[in-house]
Amino acid sequence: MSEIDSQTIAQSAKTVYVETYGCQMNEYDSEIVREILRRNDFALTDSPDAAGVVLLNTCAIRENAHDKVRARISELRHLKKRNKRLILGVLGCMAQNLKKELLETNTGVDLIAGPDSYKALPVMIDRVHNTGEKEFKLTLSEYETYADVFPTNRHGINAWVAVMRGCDNYCTFCVVPMTRGRERSRDPFNVIEEVRQLADHGFKQVTLLGQNVNSYTFKGFDFAKLITAVANIDGIKRIRFTSPHPKDFPERLIEVVATNSKACKHVHLPLQAGSDRVLDAMNRTYTREHFVALAERMRKLIPGLVLTTDVIVGFPTETEAEFEETLAVMREVQFDSAFMFKYSERKGTVAQRTIPDDISDEVKTERMVRLVDQQRQISYIRNQAHLGQAFEVLVEGYGKRPSQLLGRNDGNKIVVFPDTGAKPGEFVTVRIEEVTPNTLIGVAV
Ligand code: 5AD
Ligand code: SF4
Repeated sequence: MSEIDSQTIAQSAKTVYVETYGCQMNEYDSEIVREILRRNDFALTDSPDAAGVVLLNTCAIRENAHDKVRARISELRHLKKRNKRLILGVLGCMAQNLKKELLETNTGVDLIAGPDSYKALPVMIDRVHNTGEKEFKLTLSEYETYADVFPTNRHGINAWVAVMRGCDNYCTFCVVPMTRGRERSRDPFNVIEEVRQLADHGFKQVTLLGQNVNSYTFKGFDFAKLITAVANIDGIKRIRFTSPHPKDFPERLIEVVATNSKACKHVHLPLQAGSDRVLDAMNRTYTREHFVALAERMRKLIPGLVLTTDVIVGFPTETEAEFEETLAVMREVQFDSAFMFKYSERKGTVAQRTIPDDISDEVKTERMVRLVDQQRQISYIRNQAHLGQAFEVLVEGYGKRPSQLLGRNDGNKIVVFPDTGAKPGEFVTVRIEEVTPNTLIGVAV
């Protein structure tokens, strides 16, 4: 090896590349990881080729998330041919879930760290460098909230802020309680300080994040109080949050969303299924009637509410009639949009241990197609109601055509309109003249 080559590799040993898969919580966690490494004298790079350490922050929510990461690991292994000292690490939910597969088979993975182990990363990386041995740390904590680690390198016009971690709900299909552990809330002092710093850096919108965000509680300080406290921070104009659970959406929280001018009138309320028997088998702890009543109450109290949801089709034993109940509830509630998923069996969940995944992929796909088709029509009708309305749009950037700007209204709907010269982060009032199921199209007024 030439002197220059060995020097480059020695320099890059403390250069880290982090790639993220999955949800917004993972995006946030990747920033936490970057911040922890930065504080420990690591340099960050945007290219795996320039890195001595490549970390994949992974997701385990459905099997296709695993497949993507497996494919990426086998691609990245080839980098090791050029740089024998390259460390390949897997972080996040898949690490927690698939330790054996990743470490004990010949994947090329050197390091594994679960979602509560990121503060140990600098030491783990040094150890792999020094010993060449594989390292793993997967202990889940009841306390770790990374309360004092504020990611410093945010981009875009929205900043995500984790306010609680983990989940105690144990929905029978969901791997999150296994991969992210017990529910715990972050000290509101740190949340408020982080948002204050974000506002100082020019962010106008924050999204408060948690697997079960309305269960937030810290020494009597609940989620409604947290939203109010964040709304009092100068410079913050919009507050969003995701995702709440329908079982504990208190009246006080509806009131805050309805009355606080900075709280966006958008609630993402995961339904999952429309049949009481399936909801019970999923351990969702609410009935169809409860959900519909909650949605109606929100629509009544929150003017202009945009309501969105998550739905799963093909949960084990779901009959055609039960699937039709999901279709019926979705027609009844008239969600503005929905994320729809085919059930994917996850290792370690109650459903995986107790109910065979007995709905064929063909049937799941056929149900998905019908669900998506119905939702497109509903979304289109909901959007048509916006024709002629004017919205404050927070500009994010350009649309598909460079002559168009793209932003979101308070309800989180995408709005495109002819370029006015406004910059990302500025507000423009736009009147809607045309709609599709996914987009509002208008002109600045
Ligand atoms: N299969 C399919 N979808 C799932 N989700 C969670 N677990 C699974 C699974 N095993 C969906 C739920 C949840 C969203 C984030 O992902 O709808 O709300
Ligand atoms: Fe998973 Fe249910 Fe917790 Fe959501 S509430 S993270 S679906 S266990």
